[in-house]
Amino acid sequence: MNVDTNLLNGWENVLHVGSWNSFFEEKVSSDKGSKKETKRKVCAEPLNNFKGEEKSRLKTGFDELDRVLGGGLIKGSLVLLGGEPGIGKSTLILQLCNKIKTEGKVLYVSGEESAEQIKLRADRLQINNDDILFLGETDIDIIEENILDINPKLVIIDSVQTMYSDDISSAAGSVSQVREITARIMKMCKQKQITTIIIGHVTKDGNIAGPRVLEHMVDTVLYIEGERYFSYRILRSVKNRFGSTNEIGMFEMEGLGMKEIIDPSSVLISERKEDYTGSVIVASMEGTRPILVELQALCSQSVFGLPRRTANGIDYNRLTLLIAVLEKKSAFTLGNQDVYLNVVGGIKVSEPALDLGIVLSVASSYKNKVIPKNVVVMGEVGLTGEVRSINFIEKRLKEAEKLGFEKCIIPENNKKLLKDKYKLDIIGVKDVNEAIDYLGLK
Ligand code: TYD
Ligand code: MG
Repeated sequence: MNVDTNLLNGWENVLHVGSWNSFFEEKVSSDKGSKKETKRKVCAEPLNNFKGEEKSRLKTGFDELDRVLGGGLIKGSLVLLGGEPGIGKSTLILQLCNKIKTEGKVLYVSGEESAEQIKLRADRLQINNDDILFLGETDIDIIEENILDINPKLVIIDSVQTMYSDDISSAAGSVSQVREITARIMKMCKQKQITTIIIGHVTKDGNIAGPRVLEHMVDTVLYIEGERYFSYRILRSVKNRFGSTNEIGMFEMEGLGMKEIIDPSSVLISERKEDYTGSVIVASMEGTRPILVELQALCSQSVFGLPRRTANGIDYNRLTLLIAVLEKKSAFTLGNQDVYLNVVGGIKVSEPALDLGIVLSVASSYKNKVIPKNVVVMGEVGLTGEVRSINFIEKRLKEAEKLGFEKCIIPENNKKLLKDKYKLDIIGVKDVNEAIDYLGLK
C-alpha cells in the first residue's frame, strides 16, 4: 500500500496498516525525553543511615485502648474503628475526645447524628469540653474546608459510609465512595499531621461497603465486638503499623458509656460460684494477656437421627473435631448426643490451648460429673488424642494463681520445662485420657 507518511504523522501508533476491519487499542506514548530531564534524582541509601524514631503518642485516657493501640494514639496516624451498628463506636470515641490530651481542638464530624443527638449523648456521658467542635456534614469538600480552617489536632469521621464526594457518581457508602473519602482524608491529615479516627459500620447484609475495603489504606484497624444483649465489648486490633496485633481491650457498656475492665478474668468467671457439670475454666491468650474464661458444654440425647452441634464463641469445626477425638480415643458414644458449647460472657476465643478444656467440658456434661471449680485446664489436643504443648504457659499459670485457683492441668511437655515455682498444684498430662482419668470423668 502506498501511504503518504506525512499524512500519518502522529497516527502511526493508532493505525495498523495492513489489516482491515479490525481495531487495536494502543496507548499513544507521550514524549518521554523531556520528562526524564525534569525528574529529580533519588538514590537508595543504606538502611543503617536512617533513624527509626518512635513518633510521639497521645494517651487516649483509656488504658485498655492505649494498650490495644500499642501504647497510645500515634500523632498524625489514621485509625479505622469498625463494628456493627449500635455496638458503641460513637460512644467510645466521644468519651475519647473528652479524655484525650491533644493540646488543641478536636473536630467531631458526624453524618449520622445531628448536633442535638450528639449533645444529648455528651450530656449523658457528662462531657462538657470547649475543645470539642461538632460538624454535622456529609460533603467531603465542606469537611476538608473546615479541617483546614480549624486545624484541629484530632479529627473524627463518623461514619465513613455516610460521607460522599461529588467527584464520584455512585451513592454514599459504595466501595468507590468510601475509598475516595478515606484517600482524601488520609492525604490531608498526613500532610497536616492531624490524627484521625474513621468510624466504619460492619454490616452483615453487605449492602454498604464495609471497613474491610479500607484496611490496607490506614495505619491501624480496630474492631469492637460483642453480643448486643451482653454488656461486654471487646476491642481488637487486626492491623497496627505501630504496635502488635491481636491485642484486645475489654469494656463494659454501662449507663454512663463504656467502662474499661482492668481485670477481665475475674469479671468473666465471677458468676461461677458453684460446681456445675459441663463447666470448666480455661486460660486463653489474647494478644499479650492471658484471660481466664468459662466454657460450658451440654450434651443431650438427640431427638432426630442427625445429632446437632452448636458452638457459641468458639470455632464450630474445632468442636466437631474434638468430639470425634473423644469418640475415637476415649470411647465416648456421642453419635446420639446433641452437643452445645458456649463461652460465657458472649466473648469469642480461638486458640489451640482451649482444646483440652473443650474436650473435658463435653466429657463432664456427658458423664454428668463435675470438674471441681478450683481447676484450670489448658492444652492443645491433636488428632491422636495427644495433649500438645502450648506457648506462654508461665503467663497463663500466673493468671490462674492470681485468681486463686489451686490446680492446673497442663501438657506434660510444658510441665517438664517449667522453671518458676508456683503455689498451684500442676498436673502434666500426655493425652486426653490421662486428663479424663485424673478428673474421674470415665
Ligand atoms: P453507639 O455508640 O451509638 O453505637 P454505634 O456508634 O456503634 O452505632 O451506641 C449505641 C448503644 O449504646 C445504644 O443501644 C445505647 C447504648 N448506650 C449505653 O448503653 N450507655 C451509654 O452511656 C450510651 C451513650 C449508649
Ligand atoms: Mg454511631
